[in-house]
Amino acid sequence: MSDQSIFQSPVGTHDVLGEQSALWEGLIATFAHLAYVYGFTMVHTPMFEDIGVFHRGIGEQSDVATKEMYVFEDKGGRTYALRPEGTASIVRAFVQHQPTTPWRAWYMTPAFRYERPQAGRYRQHHQVGVEVLGTDDPAVDVEVISLAWRFYQALGLTNIRLLINSMGHDECRGRFSAALKELLESRVADLCDEHQKTYLKNPLRVLDCKKDACIAVTTEGPQLPDYLCEACAEHFAHVRAGLDAIGITSEVTPRLVRGFDYYTRTTFEFVADALGTAQNAIGGGGRYDKLAEQLGGKPTSGIGFGSGIERLLLARAAQGNESPLINRIPDVFVVDTTDADVATGIVDQFRTSGIATLRAYDGRSMKSQMKLADKSGARLALLVGPQELTANEITIRDLRRSDDGVAQQRVSRDVVLDVVRNMLGND
Ligand code: HAM
Repeated sequence: MSDQSIFQSPVGTHDVLGEQSALWEGLIATFAHLAYVYGFTMVHTPMFEDIGVFHRGIGEQSDVATKEMYVFEDKGGRTYALRPEGTASIVRAFVQHQPTTPWRAWYMTPAFRYERPQAGRYRQHHQVGVEVLGTDDPAVDVEVISLAWRFYQALGLTNIRLLINSMGHDECRGRFSAALKELLESRVADLCDEHQKTYLKNPLRVLDCKKDACIAVTTEGPQLPDYLCEACAEHFAHVRAGLDAIGITSEVTPRLVRGFDYYTRTTFEFVADALGTAQNAIGGGGRYDKLAEQLGGKPTSGIGFGSGIERLLLARAAQGNESPLINRIPDVFVVDTTDADVATGIVDQFRTSGIATLRAYDGRSMKSQMKLADKSGARLALLVGPQELTANEITIRDLRRSDDGVAQQRVSRDVVLDVVRNMLGND
């Protein structure tokens, strides 16, 4: 490579700009507002953690921990990992700070996984999510799931299905794992190559496998809902009834165990049928009633979900919806052709009043500034030339009403803000 070559963003990562960035901004604002309405506050944690947080959290044998984590040693010899997901860090922060429970945290975070990049699967993706710590009340499961559901509705997503399952608590899960292991032992030759070697370490991972061979073997095998104890079965029934009661349909999906070891009881996933099966999960989550303890804290139940921003926008686009989620068009463009830099005062006054205002720089000609004004999409241009300057006036030109010629008026500099406010208010 010569010194002058242009760098590209790393494989499996993306820059977000232009119309995409307005969609991101709208999506995050929509989520932030809903999270506030549901009583969550935003939490930030570092992008990297001691590798133990993830090993103990998501499980040392999980695919993400064994194959996908970005692990590095810092100059002090500590081993860290870039966050592959949001939950373990939030629970680590909970254990460290012991906030009052129930603790309701929301986040927006990049997550790093060394995956084989393809549409909807990246090495850096971004999630919005929530976590609630401090209660195992099934009403919270319903709230968390409903927040995700209402969020997808607010984004205009249709044809989203909610898949749900319960993994039970340690004992239910242990009994199920043992039964599954027995089946896998008897059918080992029929499993995919990878799981022939690894099924003993964590049999549940075979349920996650997308290969036909493993699906065929496990479909006939033991089903999680049959292994739930009475308390877990009752918990699951409450969650489902609660969802029904607020009009959210869920499909019980016995093989839904999800990719991390921390899950207990409720697990769920939202799939968008408009996307290909390899990346149709637009969100997922579940309970993790042992995670706080595994990270050294007091026993504390928890539940949450994360949703991939890129996938949500892909799902929206796949159903033909590219409508903006937030208005990012300026209200006003100031065209200043005096030598007195009147624009600086005007933009300051307008911006201070909350009016989105742009201007040109570098002493451009009137024609060139008008071109920029048109291109910006602004509703109004404020023109100030030598004549206006002498008269202490501004010309307001309506850039969107060109049918009956140029619509413009000259007003005193003292009242221009009020006149513009009125014109924008009448839109
Ligand atoms: P997850 O299912 O691994 O769960 O990821 C959540 C969402 O992030 C997925 O449903 C998907 O939309 C998106 N996603 C995951 N990996 C990628 C990728 N490589 N490229 C693009 N998008 C991706 C979690 O991360 C859990 N922390 C969720 C949770 C919260 N469970 C309890 N609380």
